[in-house]
Amino acid sequence: MQDLRVLSGMRPTGQLHLGHYHGVLKNWIDLQNEYDSYFFVADWHAFTTHYADKVDLENNVCQMVIDWLASGINPNTSTIFVQSKVPEHAELHLLLSMTTPLSWLERVPSYKDQQEKLKSKDLSTYGFLGYPLLQSADILIYKAGLVPVGEDQVAHVELTREVARRFNYIFGREPDFEERAEEAIVKMGKKNAKLYRSLRKSYQENGDIEAIEKAVAFLNSQQNITISDRDRLIGYLEGVGKIILPEPESLLTKASKMPGLDGQKMSKSYNNTISLRDSNHEIEIKIKKMPTDPARVKLTDPGNPAKCPVWQFHEIYSDEKTCQWVNDGCTNAKMGCIDCKKPLIESVQNELAPIQERAAEYEKDIDLVKQIIFDGSKKARIVAKETMAEVREVMGTNY
Ligand code: TRP
Ligand code: SF4
Repeated sequence: MQDLRVLSGMRPTGQLHLGHYHGVLKNWIDLQNEYDSYFFVADWHAFTTHYADKVDLENNVCQMVIDWLASGINPNTSTIFVQSKVPEHAELHLLLSMTTPLSWLERVPSYKDQQEKLKSKDLSTYGFLGYPLLQSADILIYKAGLVPVGEDQVAHVELTREVARRFNYIFGREPDFEERAEEAIVKMGKKNAKLYRSLRKSYQENGDIEAIEKAVAFLNSQQNITISDRDRLIGYLEGVGKIILPEPESLLTKASKMPGLDGQKMSKSYNNTISLRDSNHEIEIKIKKMPTDPARVKLTDPGNPAKCPVWQFHEIYSDEKTCQWVNDGCTNAKMGCIDCKKPLIESVQNELAPIQERAAEYEKDIDLVKQIIFDGSKKARIVAKETMAEVREVMGTNY
C-alpha cells in the first residue's frame, strides 16, 4: 500500500444506479487496494443546492453506503464516513474562507453553470458560492494526495491547490523558519540528517523531483520527529516555508461509458436508469422497453447499431462473438430487436446478482451499516483533528 491518501466524496442521492457503478465505484474499488482510501458522504453539500427539499437524509445516506458496500468498497481497507459527523470540516472551511478571494469562487465554472441549470432554485446563496471551498476543506483536512473526480470537479481540485498554497504562504512563514528547520535536521541524528541534506541538495541544485518525493516519504516514516518539525522539513525542501496543507492532485476518472436506457447519460433526472437494486423483472422490462434504431420498423428492415442505445450496452457487456452476432443480425435484418436484447438482460442480471445479494444482507442489518459509518467517521475524525491542531497552531488560535 502506498503512503498517498486518496479521498473522494459523493452527495447522498439514495440508491445508486449502473452509471455510478461503472463510472465511480469500480474506480474506487481499484484504488482502495492501492492507497489509504477515504470515501465519504458529502451530506452538507446536499444543502448547498437542495436546501429546501424535505428528504430523509439518514435513509439516503444509509442506502447509498449500502450500495458502496455491496459493490465492493471494503470497510476494513477503506475509511467510509459522513461529512457532518466530522464537524472539523466546517471549522476548516470557515478559516479558509478568511484567506480565499471572492473572485476565485466566482470564477469556478460550476458556479454560473449550475445557477443556469437549476433556475427553479434560488442559488444566490452564501453556501452555494462557498461550496467548492467546503470541498477544499474536505480534501485538505485529510491532506489527501489524490482526489479521484469526474471532469466537472477538476476545477474544484485546482481551486483547492490554490487555497492550500495561499494558506501555506500566509501561515507557513515563521520569522525564524530557517533556524527552526536547521534545528529539526540536527534533531534527527547524524545519519538521517545527512540523507535529508543530500536529498534537499539534489532537488535544489538539480530540480530532482524524485528526491523530494523520497525525502517526503522518508520524513513521513520517521517516528521520532514532531508533526511541526516534519511540516517544517517538508517546506524546507523547497525552501518556501512550512507546508501545513499539502496540495492535492486530481485523478481524472474517465467519463463513464455507461449510457442510460435512452442513450443519453444515465441520470435519475432523465429517468433512464437501471438501479443497482432493480429486480430481475424490472431489469427485463426496462431493457425490453429500450428504444432501438427507428429504421427497424419490421424485422426485414435493416438497422444500424451506431444509432441504437442497445448497441452501446453490448459494447460494455458483450464479448466479441456476441457483438459480431448483433452487428450481422442488425445490419442484415436477420434478427429482431427483442432477440438482440436477450443476452443483455442476462448480463445485467448476472452482474447485479452478487451486489444485490450483499445489499440484501445489509438491508436486513441497518445497525451494522450505521456501525460501519460510525467507526469510519471516528477514524476520519482523528486525522481531521490532527490537521486542525496544526492549523490552529499556525493561526495562533491555539490558546
Ligand atoms: N462536489 C462533489 C460532487 O458534487 C462531491 C464532493 C464533496 C467531493 N467533497 C468532495 C468529491 C471532496 C471529492 C473530494 O460530486
Ligand atoms: Fe439495436 Fe439490436 Fe435492434 Fe440493431 S437489432 S436496432 S442493435 S436492438
